[in-house]
This record gives sequence, structure tokens and C-alpha cells, in this order.
Amino acid sequence: MGALSKLAAAMKLGNLQIDPPVWMAPMAGVVDAPYRQLLRELGCPVVVTEMVSAEGILRLAKGSHRLLHHLPSERPLFVQLFGDLPERLAEAARLCAEMGFAGIDINMGCPVKKVVRHGAGAALMKDPIRAEQIVAAVRRAVSIPLTVKMRSAWSASEGNAIELGRRLAGAGADAIIIHARTRSQFYSGRADWELIGRAVAALDIPVIGNGDLRAVEDGKRRQTQTGCAGIMIGRAALGNPWLPAAMGKCMTQQTTTAYPPSPQERWGIFCNHLQKMIDWVDSERQAVIRMRKHLIWYTRGFVGAVGLRKEVHRMNTATAMRSAMAKLLAVEDRDPQCLC
Ligand SMILES: Cc1cc2nc3c(=O)[nH]c(=O)nc-3n(C[C@H](O)[C@H](O)[C@H](O)COP(=O)(O)O)c2cc1C
Repeated sequence: MGALSKLAAAMKLGNLQIDPPVWMAPMAGVVDAPYRQLLRELGCPVVVTEMVSAEGILRLAKGSHRLLHHLPSERPLFVQLFGDLPERLAEAARLCAEMGFAGIDINMGCPVKKVVRHGAGAALMKDPIRAEQIVAAVRRAVSIPLTVKMRSAWSASEGNAIELGRRLAGAGADAIIIHARTRSQFYSGRADWELIGRAVAALDIPVIGNGDLRAVEDGKRRQTQTGCAGIMIGRAALGNPWLPAAMGKCMTQQTTTAYPPSPQERWGIFCNHLQKMIDWVDSERQAVIRMRKHLIWYTRGFVGAVGLRKEVHRMNTATAMRSAMAKLLAVEDRDPQCLC
């Protein structure tokens, strides 16, 4: 086997085979059940829920349980949990394992104040002993794959991913996912892929690299550069649900289907997404509201997209959305039922 094909090899976590090793990133408010269904349908190998509070799950909070709802077509689906108490996270993980999730991911990267203030998310990077206790407790509670998603560090001087990764590997994590920005950077600045390379060399569990993967060749390029076992795609896949599958094909050197899709295909995929949203929320009006941001992402870069941004907030029906997009892309506004 050549060096490159070895690199692109499937990722194995317990009994789960992720082939090619491409993950869609968890994104609160965006990568919800309808979007995950679409991503999987288009060939994204594995998806993750939005972050869910372990405490919310255990207290039967409606909002948290709503985030756990999913369809079998989304599997393999990891659930991402956040919290600061080892035994509470372990109990929530146990419930999730019973619900059929393929794996548990613990959030140690969320930068927002209302999460880190309670010692959860990226705050755990400054509290390695507690982070280790969490992983050990969850490991004792479940036998399904266990990953941790973290930042490269809390700040330039504090809470380093490599040291933390070593501890968490010892405590039973099966893999770590590094979003290679510090917590202080939030989502700006460049992701530090050199750090991912150093983590790969230093750790004896698989490392999944995340941050700034945009072009279809980026996954292959970064995997070759760092030797990471897998990659995770974030913002570039918004309005671009075909990107994870295309990046995976490029990594395994399979022939890529036409990328990006034609405007007519783009419109068809948007209609499919919209219909999934309508089916999911069971209200056309609510679905249209939730799809407004997606419509903007799907049309980014097209002539007239800026004008559409202003109009989108006045759109209240699926028909209005479909025909506005068809007009902008200059494609036929066909009956979406005939698009399969
Ligand atoms: C709107 C939004 C929501 C996000 N929600 C989560 C989340 O729930 N859990 C998580 O671990 N990361 C979350 N992230 C971070 C992404 O998973 C990813 O790590 C980050 O966007 C970096 O990847 P990118 O540079 O490819 O976008 C979120 C990011 C954005 C922009």
C-alpha cells in the first residue's frame, strides 16, 4: 500500500469503521437533524449532534431532549455532550448509548462565556484533572467509541491540547478532535495545523484535525502534512452539504463526481433540505424561518445573492423560497417531487 493510500485509510473506532475518515463538525443551531440527514444522504461518512447539556438530559429538559431526536438515516451519529461533573456526564452518556448513538463526544472546546463560566467546554482545557476524571467516568459508563473535541489551547500560554490529549488517552478516550484555534481566538485567525502534526506525533490515539478546511483538496493536503487519522469539516460545509463527501473522495483518490454541483443540482439539494426541514418541524412557516440562513449560504457568491439577503426575511412560504432561489440561479423551478 502506498503512503498516501495508507493515510487515507478508513478510521476504526471500536467496531465503527469511518471510511473515508471525514467528519462533519457539530454546529449548534445549524447542523440539526434535517441537515445531518442531508449530509449523510450525500455521502458524509459520520455526523455529530449539536452540543447537548448532560444536566439538561438528566433533568429531562425539553430543549436538550429535542436535540437528541434523530432518524436512523443519520447514523452513524455521535452525540456531543457538555458539562463539568464527571458522574453526570457519565450518566448522560449511558442514556445516550442506550438510545443507539454510535459514539460519545465530550465538548472541551466551546468558547462561549455561559458555558466556560460553569467550568464546561474549553474551560476544561485549564482543568486537566477534571477533564481526565470526566473521560475516565464516561469510559467506565459506556463501551461505545469515546472522543473529545478540544481547542489547540485555552490561550497562547495556557492549556495545551497535546498535554491534555496524553492524559485523556490514558483515561480511555479513543480519539481526540482538535479544532486548532485557541479558545481566545474563538473562530477567527488561522487554524494551527502544525500543532495537529505535533499532536499526531506525540499521541498514541488517533487525532482528527479541524479548522479552515475549505477547498475539496484541503483534507488530503492536511492529512498528508500532519498524518492525522481523520478530518472534520466546519463552516465550509454550510450551503455546501456535498463538500464532506467530495473531500473524502479526493482523499481516497476516487474519481470525484462533478464538484461543485451544477446550479440545477444545487437548487434540487436545497429543495430536498427544505422538505426535510418541513417534515422535521412539522410546520412550513417554522421550517422556512429556519431555512433562511441556509438559503443565504447556498447562494453565496452568486450574482444577486446580496439582494436576496435583504428579501429572505420576508419569505414565509416554501414556494417563495424555492422560486427565489431558482430565479437567482437561473434554473428551472421544477416540481421538487421529480428531483430524485
Ligand atoms: C455556529 C457554530 C456553532 C458551533 N457549534 C459547535 C458545537 O455545538 N460543538 C462543537 O464542538 N463545536 C461547535 N462549533 C465549532 C465547529 O465544530 C468547528 O470546530 C469550527 O467551526 C472550526 O472549524 P471550521 O474552521 O472548519 O469552521 C460551532 C461553530 C459555529 C460557527
